[in-house]
Amino acid sequence: MEIGTIGAGDFAQAFAKRMLKSGHKVILSNSRGPESLREIVMRLGPGATAGTREEAVACEMVLLAVPWDNVPETLASLPEWKNQILIDSVNPYHGKAGAFTPADVGNLSTSQFVAALAPGARVVKAFNNMRTPNLEADPVVNGAKRVAFISADDDDAKKRVYTLLENCGYSVVDLGNLRDGGLIQQTGGPLGGRDLLEKGEYIPGT
Ligand SMILES: NC(=O)c1ccc[n+]([C@@H]2O[C@H](COP(=O)([O-])OP(=O)(O)OC[C@H]3O[C@@H](n4cnc5c(N)ncnc54)[C@H](OP(=O)(O)O)[C@@H]3O)[C@@H](O)[C@H]2O)c1
Repeated sequence: MEIGTIGAGDFAQAFAKRMLKSGHKVILSNSRGPESLREIVMRLGPGATAGTREEAVACEMVLLAVPWDNVPETLASLPEWKNQILIDSVNPYHGKAGAFTPADVGNLSTSQFVAALAPGARVVKAFNNMRTPNLEADPVVNGAKRVAFISADDDDAKKRVYTLLENCGYSVVDLGNLRDGGLIQQTGGPLGGRDLLEKGEYIPGT
């Protein structure tokens, strides 16, 4: 599969490495254009290309990996969504990463807020709990699998991202819809910032 990224910073590059290792192709994009990403894609190697945001969004699966404060302007600058899957990996902190001022979106989960700004996209919350070094490292640690959480309103989109994560080697836990699951897994929720390992296979429904 070819996966697009909106944002090409530390996290998108770690995501790209993981996807390339799983045999996928990745088109990275940022606000400055493909030329600014030339060295990055050279370092990432075969399967990684630099594209425009339009090219990245044309992929059937697209990672959103920009700072929280940039989310509204970024989504407003993209072409109309036509049912693509939008993976929301954003942790809602204002300011630079590390400043840790959590954003307030009222009654919504932050992924519902993202979904409202991306009509036509099928939003899946995933990857936000994984720090870049862990995403780059082998998902299996001393025989235990890293746990990946996902939430979505669209069952088919959720299944597709579930399978993507599973094929990468993660133990995937489906937390439900964007509202309830999103609130559990986002920053400030009970699983926000947790990076867990699970021994053995996770069996859905048990
Ligand atoms: N780092 C982690 O461990 C980690 C873990 C989980 C989730 N996340 C989440 O991933 C997101 C990115 O984090 P990061 O650490 O990768 O930050 P980063 O290194 O600062 O990268 C941010 C990227 O967003 C791009 N960007 C900003 N505005 C844009 C726009 N309008 N259109 C397209 N691209 C735009 C930037 O490129 P230009 O400025 O050149 O456009 C840059 O490539 C954050 O929401 C963070 O919460 C990070």
